[in-house]
Formats: sequence, structure tokens, C-alpha cells
Amino acid sequence: MLAGKHILLIIGGGIAAFKSLDLIRRLRERGAEVTPVLTRAGTEFVTPLSVSALAGKKVFQDLFDLGDEAEMGHIQLSRVADLLVVAPATADLMAKMAQGHANDLASTLLLATDTPVMIAPAMNVRMWDHPATQRNLDLLKSDGIAVVGPNEGDMACGEFGPGRMAEPLEIVAAIEAKLADGPLKGKRALVTSGPTHEPIDPVRYIANRSSGAQGSAIGAALAALGAEVIFVTGPADVPPPEGVTVIKVETAKQMLEAVQDALPVDAGVFAAAVADWRVDGASDRKLKKSKDGLPSLSFAENPDILKTVSQMTKGRPPLMVGFAAETNDVVDHATAKRNRKGCDWIVANDVSPGTGIMGGTENAVTLITDAGAESWPRMGKDEVARKLAARIADAVLG
Ligand code: CTP
Repeated sequence: MLAGKHILLIIGGGIAAFKSLDLIRRLRERGAEVTPVLTRAGTEFVTPLSVSALAGKKVFQDLFDLGDEAEMGHIQLSRVADLLVVAPATADLMAKMAQGHANDLASTLLLATDTPVMIAPAMNVRMWDHPATQRNLDLLKSDGIAVVGPNEGDMACGEFGPGRMAEPLEIVAAIEAKLADGPLKGKRALVTSGPTHEPIDPVRYIANRSSGAQGSAIGAALAALGAEVIFVTGPADVPPPEGVTVIKVETAKQMLEAVQDALPVDAGVFAAAVADWRVDGASDRKLKKSKDGLPSLSFAENPDILKTVSQMTKGRPPLMVGFAAETNDVVDHATAKRNRKGCDWIVANDVSPGTGIMGGTENAVTLITDAGAESWPRMGKDEVARKLAARIADAVLG
């Protein structure tokens, strides 16, 4: 619920602006007050009248409007809200924000504010992929701006790829998580999840049976406690949780890079089933059958992400939690793994085929910490996640 919360919603000029009308409705349904700001380009896609009718209040448009300034000056306007949300955040608006421009009402509000800001980018896939936009995105993230989406899919311009604005309900969930008054509010947590895919050639890969269910549940449980969650996921079966920043990767090497980019965090939970090996010299062409015999694959070792981050001398997250998937002597192997990798906790589980845990909905784990091994009864993965998130909150808040 968002009762009593005040959102300043900046609507940029993109085709996705029509979804912002629904966003206003959804926010107000949940009790939020929405003050809308429409950029000049935004008025090309939605009318001030429809925005103001849905928000139930006037829409601010012009930096130099004497009437508006007399009613509520732009500096004050930028600070009355609990959160500034930019949806859609166009490539141009992101560039202005990253560079600190203040040449219209929206950019001035964004520069004059000391309130948290969230953006929901929306643009053509090439604009999104452009190094300039990606550079701006990195700058905005390092300025502490929360980013929701974009999603991948068919776009209004007829192309396909990342660039579609997140759906209104996803943005609402992200806003709720951001404004949640849980114990982890103001803390950042990183979660890795899912399997990795290691290419053999452009059409084949080596993978494992991880569904991503436990990682998604942990991401959701940490967000529900108010943490800002950066969720780095391989190609999982289970969708990522709502209200978190999702970074999709395929390979172990990409996962390590995404994890390093996400630091600093207060806690890292490494639930991904990372492939230990990749195919050395994966072919950039499809391997063909040949009468000379079967192809042979040779392997190279992948980086150990948990170990690399646990052993960082500078910027190591204060709490590092790893998982240990074992099929025998679970506690012994997991305890040795904790020491070898240098993480603080290990959540050990028995993934022997008979347990139905890998790919299933339940988990039976043993939490290994400095204090020893603590076995939890078999329970749903959601419940394991909530229990673990509560323990993480205790540890992080010390
Ligand atoms: N892990 C990682 N990077 C890797 C391999 C594993 O970050 N390249 C992390 C996993 O996310 C998990 C922990 O390390 O938190 C243990 O993973 P697991 O597969 O159980 O252990 P391995 O290191 O692969 O050891 P082994 O296969 O020998 O049991």
C-alpha cells in the first residue's frame, strides 16, 4: 500500500507515455498522491487534460509559468514528494539527468531534489544499447538512482529487444519496495540466481537444472523487508521478483562483471548455480557433423564469483552468503566450502535427485555460520527465503 505517500511523476516524451496514465491510476488506487509533471515532448503523446483528470490535480509543465511559481515554486515542488518517478524516462531525459542539465521544468526538478529518484526507461532498442545511453545509465546508477526495466519485447517502432517500458504494475511494485518501511530500508542487497549458460557454439550451450526459484524468492523477501535489491540472474525458468533491479546475464564471466558493477552492497546472496567450466574457445559458427568423427570439447575454468568477491581486500560486502549444492556429506562439504571460499555463511542443501529439491518448490537447508551448523526443517522455498532474509536483516543491522 502507498497510503500517505506522495509521488512526483515526470512523464517524458515517448510512446510509452500512454502507460503512465494507467500508472497514475494504479498509484492512486493504492492510496498515493500523484503530482504530475509533463515534459514538452510528453504533451505530444498524452494530453495535459487526461493526465490531470487521472491524477485529480493540476499538471505542471513550464519552468517559467508565473502562476505555477506563485502556487508552488519549482524548488519546493521537487522536495514535497517521497519519491520522484520518471516514466517514461527517454534517452534524452536520462542524458540530461546524467549530465546535470536544468533547462526545463523536469530536468530542473530532478537536479534540485534531494528526494530519491526512480526511472523507468523506454526507448528504441538501438538507443538503449547505444554506448552513450549505457554510459548514462551507469552514471545514474552510481548516483543512486533506482532503475526499473526496461523489458524486452516487441516495440512500437517494430523492432524487438530491450527498451519497452516496464508495465505499470511492475513500476508500482518497485515503488512499493522502494518506499517500504521495512527494517532493510536504505540497505542494498545483491542476489545472484539461476543457472549460467556456457556456449559451445552460437546455438548450443552447457547448462544445469537450476530453476532460479530459490534466488527469486530470496530477492522478493529482501525487497519486502525494504532493501534495494540488485538481482543478477542467468536464464532461469522462474521470473525475477518485482520491485528489484534485474540484470540478465548468460555466462559466468558476464555474471561476475554484473556482480562487480553492482558493488558496493551491504549483503550479497550468491544463489546462482554457476557453471564451473566453460567451453574453451567456443566456436562462433555452428559446429557441423563431419565424417572425420565426433567433435571434442575442451574446458576452461570459470571464475568463482562467490570466492572472488568474498576475498576482495577492498569493498567486500560486510555479509557474504553462499549456497552449497551437495549430494553427500552435506554439512562437511559445505563447511569446507565456506572456509575455501571465504564467505560468512553457507546455506547448504542436498540436491540428490531423490530429494526433488533442484527444480522443485521445497528446500531443506542447513545454515552454516561461525556459530556452527543449524538445520532447518524442509519447507517451501518462499519460507526459506523469508527466514534467511530475516536473519540477513538481523546481521546487517547488527
Ligand atoms: N559459485 C560462484 N561461482 C562459481 C561457482 C560457484 O559464485 N563459478 C557460488 C554459488 O553461487 C554458490 C557457491 O559458490 O553460492 C557454491 O556453489 P557450488 O556449485 O555448490 O560449489 P562449487 O564451488 O561449484 O563446488 P563443487 O562443484 O566442487 O561442489
